[in-house]
Amino acid sequence: MSLKPYLLIVCLLALGSSPLAAQSSAVSAEASFTPSAARGYQLLTTKAYLPPDFDQQVFDELWKTWPKELRNQARDATPTVRRQLAFTRYGLVESPEHPGEGPAWGYTSDGQGGWVMNCLSCHGGQVNGNATLGLPNSNFGLETLVEDVRATKIRLGKKLTHMDMAQLGMPLGSTHGTTNSVIFGVALEAKRDADMKVIKAFNIPEMLHHDLDAPPFWNVKKKSRLYYDGLVKKHHRPLIQFVLLPRNDEKVLASWENDYRDILAWIESLESPRYPWPVESSLVEGGRTVFNQHCAKCHGTYGEKETFPEKVISLDILGTDPMRLQALNAEYREKFQHSWLANYNTTDPVWLPKGYIAPPLHGIWASAPYLHNGSVPTLWHLMHADERPKIWKRTPTGYDQQRVGLEITTPEAVPDGLLSADRRRYFDTSKTGKSSAGHRFPEELSEDEKRAVLEYLKTL
Ligand code: HEC
Ligand code: HEC
Repeated sequence: MSLKPYLLIVCLLALGSSPLAAQSSAVSAEASFTPSAARGYQLLTTKAYLPPDFDQQVFDELWKTWPKELRNQARDATPTVRRQLAFTRYGLVESPEHPGEGPAWGYTSDGQGGWVMNCLSCHGGQVNGNATLGLPNSNFGLETLVEDVRATKIRLGKKLTHMDMAQLGMPLGSTHGTTNSVIFGVALEAKRDADMKVIKAFNIPEMLHHDLDAPPFWNVKKKSRLYYDGLVKKHHRPLIQFVLLPRNDEKVLASWENDYRDILAWIESLESPRYPWPVESSLVEGGRTVFNQHCAKCHGTYGEKETFPEKVISLDILGTDPMRLQALNAEYREKFQHSWLANYNTTDPVWLPKGYIAPPLHGIWASAPYLHNGSVPTLWHLMHADERPKIWKRTPTGYDQQRVGLEITTPEAVPDGLLSADRRRYFDTSKTGKSSAGHRFPEELSEDEKRAVLEYLKTL
């Protein structure tokens, strides 16, 4: 056994003891229950489903762990500017409800100064300076945040908690904006039986670490299955995967079912944001025609007659990075399929998918970078497979209106000797799980047609 899985077990066992029963309020599964989107948003931003990751004091002292130059800048800054520096370093977003104070948008207050991670840390991002619900947070530096939190807790003599420990056992995300989320689920589910009872025996699961860009929430209403490969039929229970720390035992999870019905209703109520800049309207209609001829068979049609074929495209045809598909092996998928999380869906014919879903493209201008692993920075690059950068680094908040997506620089190489926090700002497509290859379908278009489709995509 290598050290890392061992540490992971130690961490999971350490968390196994104290059920969070006091938090449980809702009574489970009532046929008469009518989910409410408003309540869903309220729950996910105010109810602590997990223990806090750190407290306000730890957050306020993070800057003391920073490299010298940044640390000096923080030392001489006002508390407001220091907070901004921290938000920039970790890719956090200010909550529009209480900007400038308390936890970031992706964290819920536990009422005692604690910051509890919530869904928006990955599923609430910013584009053109606007915080947008359901937009993947393409700046989130989870691994850097957890590293600095651990160092600060050690310095202050505070207790380490689940994320600090988990990171010793597994990587959390090696590039800003993407996370190893799927493997968090694999690790946590290995401690459960099919009914979500926490088990004593623990077989170390196979863990192929890889980072993903979260999909935008506003497309969920169009889908009948969830996740990039269509792993499971859409249902509220898979959403509960995120809170599977052993202390939330099967009774606690069952008591939260109605909460997650509400949260799913909220996700399904979201609309995509509109492109805020001028569009070359003379090209849009032509772009629509080309799109409908070449792309709609996989991505559906938009406007008056909306369709969504929800096709899973086999990897031999698609050619994008295979890690996400391979990371969930047949054994995992079979167990998942027969578990409470998948609603014991034993008759589902598609439980062993061969590729990735061709997603709906609503609000696609906003959700850069592209592909499931976030390897392609703009729509122009998605349409020009041979021009995709091997290494790219985004500017902190810049938007590229020409190429539609992230504003980037394309260095020849990742500089040597960088601190890991700086290295995570470079996307290196030669690394495992980070390939930007494949999806060459737009290559059958002429340059003019590509131009028109690009303009049309802005209007979706
Ligand atoms: C650490 C980042 C992270 C957090 C926190 C997180 N997610 Fe996700 N979420 C992801 C990633 C990455 C995916 C893509 C996984 C895949 O498809 O393999 C995803 C996928 C999803 C999907 C499927 C969307 C689709 O189009 O198929 C839903 C629904 C979802 N998450 C809901 C939630 C909810 C609800 C929470 C909070 C309880 C949450 N997520 C917390 C990263 C996160
Ligand atoms: C044979 C089916 C197929 C065709 C044809 C196709 N696509 Fe795709 N497309 C996919 C799949 C599958 C993905 C997801 C790939 C991944 O994430 O690895 C995808 C991803 C995308 C994405 C990125 C989505 C995101 O959220 O990151 C865009 C944009 C896109 N396609 C545009 C187009 C355009 C424009 C055309 C036509 C020129 C086209 N596609 C043709 C199957 C197809």
